[in-house]
Parts: sequence; structure tokens; C-alpha cells
Amino acid sequence: MGNENKTEIAICLGSACFARGNNTTRRVIEDYIRLHGLWDKVVFHGARCFNHCQNGPVLKINELIYEHVDENNVTELLDQFFNRP
Ligand code: FES
Repeated sequence: MGNENKTEIAICLGSACFARGNNTTRRVIEDYIRLHGLWDKVVFHGARCFNHCQNGPVLKINELIYEHVDENNVTELLDQFFNRP
């Protein structure tokens, strides 16, 4: 399966989002992918500033930007995205 069929998750590691907790959120996402065996379906990487700093922390899934994503709500977002009950 090529990367074009995978879900791309890009976490902003720009300084504003990093300072607001994206380093912790990154670990939560990695744990989520591991727990649900999604590594073959997901490309996960850090990204530079998306210029949404004021509404950060920011996460991008495929072409959609999600704002105010943190370690407390990211699991719900991923559950919605991957259609988990
Ligand atoms: S630092 Fe994340 S959007 Fe700018």
C-alpha cells in the first residue's frame, strides 16, 4: 500500500504549538496508533508552523486543520476519524 492510501497525520511542532503541549499530544497519538495497530494505515510526522498559531495547538489530518487539539481531546478526534465507537 502506497502512502497515498494512508491517512496523513501531521502535528505542528512549531514553537507556539510545541509550547502549548504538542510534544505530549505527539506521544498520545503514537500510543493510539500503536494500541490500535494503525501503523500500516497512517503516516504520522511532525510539521512546521501552519500559521494557525493563535488557535493552536494544531493538528492536520489529511488536508484538514484541527485547532485547539490537546492531549485531552485528541483521542476523541482520532476515534471520530477512524470510526471507532
Ligand atoms: S506554531 Fe503551530 S500553527 Fe504556528
